[in-house]
Amino acid sequence: MTRGEKLYEGKAKVVYATDDPDVYIQDFKDSATAFDGKKKGTIQEKGRLNNAISTRLFSLLEENGVQTHFLGKDSETAMRINRLDMFQVEFVVRNVAAGSLSKRIGYPEGTPLKNPPIVEYYYKDDALGDPLLCMAHLDELGVISREDLEKATAAAVKINSVLKGFFAERGLTLVDFKLEFGKDADGVIRLGDEISPDTCRFWDSETGEKLDKDRFRRDLGGVEDAYEEVLRRIS
Ligand code: TMP
Ligand code: ASP
Repeated sequence: MTRGEKLYEGKAKVVYATDDPDVYIQDFKDSATAFDGKKKGTIQEKGRLNNAISTRLFSLLEENGVQTHFLGKDSETAMRINRLDMFQVEFVVRNVAAGSLSKRIGYPEGTPLKNPPIVEYYYKDDALGDPLLCMAHLDELGVISREDLEKATAAAVKINSVLKGFFAERGLTLVDFKLEFGKDADGVIRLGDEISPDTCRFWDSETGEKLDKDRFRRDLGGVEDAYEEVLRRIS
């Protein structure tokens, strides 16, 4: 498919138009950022690895009846996707306490949640640092209707059950992850963005070793090897 105009360049991906107005190309970059872009770096081969990992996981979800924006492979680092009108909300799904949840409620990292998953909503606004929103904030902002919020939350819970089991069979604990949803030209809610070690926490079920972007965020080393290992286990 021919790449048209560059429509958007984010911290980890570039989106291009194509000759079909409802199809875009999403190209994954090697660059990595953390803490609202304050920390910057490059993870060798990340574009290729995240494209391959996201491709595998979007395909798995489609096989399990979850509607996503994934259409097919475009190149080693890029995929064809449906154009979506994205909700300005990030959905974070958690099975085990880690990261900001541990800071917020005082559970040590690794504490299993009593009634998983927890689904949290964050406002996609870089200038505000993507703050956590409660229901009253969502209603006030009007970034998503209650009906769409309920549908997307149900999809997030379903996605968690599919992915959690899939990773468990491959010796990985799905600790938490971030999802973004939008509506296609027919008004259907679909999962967009990516599912990769940039946007998920994966821990080895036996050793507890971190196999995700926390290795970059926390300067643990072995970042590329961790992403490679995730791809190897799911291939
Ligand atoms: P958190 O514990 O820092 O809130 O992160 C929860 C999950 O969301 C974790 O798997 C990483 C992912 N995440 C993103 O994909 N993008 C972000 O900007 C942040 C803060 C987290
Ligand atoms: N991607 C986000 C940023 O660059 C945060 C993160 O993943 O930690 O700020």
